[in-house]
Amino acid sequence: MPTTAGSVPPQTDPKLQPKRSRDWAWPYWPAVPLYPYGQRRTLCQEVLKGRIWTFDQLQGILYVIIPVRMTIIKLAAGGLLVYAPVAPTRECIRMVKDLVSEHGEIKYIILPTASGIEHKVFTGPFAKRFPKAQVFVSPSQWTFPVQIPLSWLGLSSYQTQVLPANSAEAPFADEFDYAILGPIDLRLGPFEEVAFFHKRSRTLLVTDSVVSIPVNPPKILQLDPYPMLFHAKDNVFDVVKDTPATQRKGWQRMAIFAFYFQPSSLKVVGTKQTFQEACQAPNRSKKDYFGLFPVQWNPDWKTSFDAFRQGGSPIVAPILQKLIFNRQPETVLAWVDQVAQWNFRRIIPCHLDSPVTATPRQFSQAFDFLRPEPVARGRWFARKRSTPVNFPEADLAFLDRVDQFLCDRNITPPAKPLAKPSSEP
Ligand SMILES: [Fe+2]
Repeated sequence: MPTTAGSVPPQTDPKLQPKRSRDWAWPYWPAVPLYPYGQRRTLCQEVLKGRIWTFDQLQGILYVIIPVRMTIIKLAAGGLLVYAPVAPTRECIRMVKDLVSEHGEIKYIILPTASGIEHKVFTGPFAKRFPKAQVFVSPSQWTFPVQIPLSWLGLSSYQTQVLPANSAEAPFADEFDYAILGPIDLRLGPFEEVAFFHKRSRTLLVTDSVVSIPVNPPKILQLDPYPMLFHAKDNVFDVVKDTPATQRKGWQRMAIFAFYFQPSSLKVVGTKQTFQEACQAPNRSKKDYFGLFPVQWNPDWKTSFDAFRQGGSPIVAPILQKLIFNRQPETVLAWVDQVAQWNFRRIIPCHLDSPVTATPRQFSQAFDFLRPEPVARGRWFARKRSTPVNFPEADLAFLDRVDQFLCDRNITPPAKPLAKPSSEP
């Protein structure tokens, strides 16, 4: 067993670590060129003793980084099920094989998304390392700009099949139920995600649909705190020390940056000023982007983070609220109702915090932004909220502009109001 829940294993002490390692090498990074590119570290944590493990890696752009996660669950009859593989680096495979030697072969590998390229890209290479495993993929697979076969993603036809529409027909149906969200038509290609419910442990596995935002940086980010320190700077001239407080500050800014893209507390500095300031920057190393720091943070950024975090409750990412789930609210809410019937007590998403202690009701509440508002005498009216209740309008302004841009050019379909219930007079 690679490590234990809640503890940082010895190999994670950043002061004792080399900067690069063959163990972390991921040579296929140009296929999806996201940070940390060719060096991807893996952190394994045991969620439930001897039964559930998560494997965290990182993904991001320009030091805006969040965890991406694979979950492995032990099957009752021995063997393992893998949900949403991450990059099969030597380090990752070694830790997985530690589990295999103790708990049995990997029997099933699940690709639970048709749209999440950051998950799709690793499934083929991971499955190749475990050729006896059966691979099940979300039904509506697609690629852009041209449709390419699954075999080009490294998924062989002898090993791969589509998840049955009826979860009772899957070979692991006695231990897992699943519900398929979508496909949601986005014109370029559909959004689709498959939530899995592990009955014995009462654990819900989701891909991108909900996340929980931790106050403190996730452990996988702490392996290399530099990106957090970069974002802890208020401006290009700021020099920050590596302390838990600055790491937390950088992480929290990174979180709102990653989800709002341009939160209201972030001021973009002009190109001319950015280059002028870079010439006087205290750090002009390549690692510090040669002193280029084209943003300034307003003092109210913390208010923005607190509003976004929602006390750590499950939330739907703003981009999904604004650009995807509001395209087919009935489809999404039908799936939410199906998932909320399972009596789970924890959620393991593929990003951000994990595990998240949450009830089906809390999960369902994360989708309130799609629901009509209740009115007097218990009646409902069909006007859909144009924005989520609790996220600040100012922080959503950038995504609103993106939405308008895409709709004006017919690139994506517009948001659709929730249909009026048939019982409504
Ligand atoms: Fe994802």
